[in-house]
Amino acid sequence: MFGAPSVPTDAFGIHFDNPVGLAAGMDKKGENIPNWENFGFGWIEIGGITLHAQEGNPKPRMFRSTKHGALINRMGFNNPGSEVMSQSLAKQKAKKWASVPVGINLGKSKITPNEEAEQDYSGTMERLWEFADLFVVNVSSPNTPNLRELQAGSELDRILIECNEVNSRMAQASGTNPKPILVKVSPDLSDDQLRTVADSALAQGCAGIVATNTTTSRPAEDKVMNQSGGLSGLPLRSRSTEVIHMLYAHTKGALPIVGVGGISDAESAWEKIGAGASILQLYSALIFEGPGVNKAINKGLNRKLKANGYQSLTEAVGHAHRS
Ligand SMILES: Cc1cc2nc3c(=O)[nH]c(=O)nc-3n(C[C@H](O)[C@H](O)[C@H](O)COP(=O)(O)O)c2cc1C
Repeated sequence: MFGAPSVPTDAFGIHFDNPVGLAAGMDKKGENIPNWENFGFGWIEIGGITLHAQEGNPKPRMFRSTKHGALINRMGFNNPGSEVMSQSLAKQKAKKWASVPVGINLGKSKITPNEEAEQDYSGTMERLWEFADLFVVNVSSPNTPNLRELQAGSELDRILIECNEVNSRMAQASGTNPKPILVKVSPDLSDDQLRTVADSALAQGCAGIVATNTTTSRPAEDKVMNQSGGLSGLPLRSRSTEVIHMLYAHTKGALPIVGVGGISDAESAWEKIGAGASILQLYSALIFEGPGVNKAINKGLNRKLKANGYQSLTEAVGHAHRS
């Protein structure tokens, strides 16, 4: 219906027909897996999913500011839990699945204390392993109390070590390769903290980093902006790009980056690629711009690649660091 033009690229050993993915949180239960590609998404991320079922925060928990092109949400990982999810994904897979890569966003159950977080993340990974092309360890949602503390080096190491262990075991049992594991970061960390996360991710052999999740900062004060929760959309654009720029420079491009935060057109997508993102995701722009947004972005990306003399998207990654 809104099929996007091809902008082929490769990242984490996976081929993408176009780089623009559906960010986590839109298809939390993975109910529409085969349909997103009809809106021109080159890949999707379902979830966040937690080990245990949970209701999330009381409603209202999602707010829209048309004036700022922004959303504020405090959903709190409402999801049916890993066991029910594995059954529903199995049913879906038997019927119809996506032809684009599918990532799974792993959250932490609210009832699981941070000290046992690694069991929660790795337990969900084990139950859902067969359904994912890649996993995102989400330690950056502002809507689960203290979750973001798990971004600190040793806490994150513990989680990644356990997830790596499950990943290797599942791969061995099924005679295939381990799946790429990425870490998703908060834009509210200091640059030093972000560098520590990147160092952990590299040390633990992660395939990449997703930058960024929503922010607790606000561009202004008004009725919507005063709501608590994570802000996404246009006001997040520049901080998210800054984080990508800094992570790319720090890792010298060794840790592929998924750029997300305030992408709404070809210009903002190109900015993320220039800062160092290898592939992209969006959520808020789908709400504000409608389902034609991916087609417009990919068309624009092809134009920019041609205008700048790049043969592929990969060649363009990090171009702002070279100009
Ligand atoms: C309602 C809502 C729910 C979200 N849920 C999740 C989630 O479960 N896990 C996650 O990692 N990010 C979640 N996000 C964050 C998005 O994946 C994305 O990082 C953020 O919205 C910034 O992108 P955008 O500016 O294109 O919206 C959510 C965002 C929104 C608006």
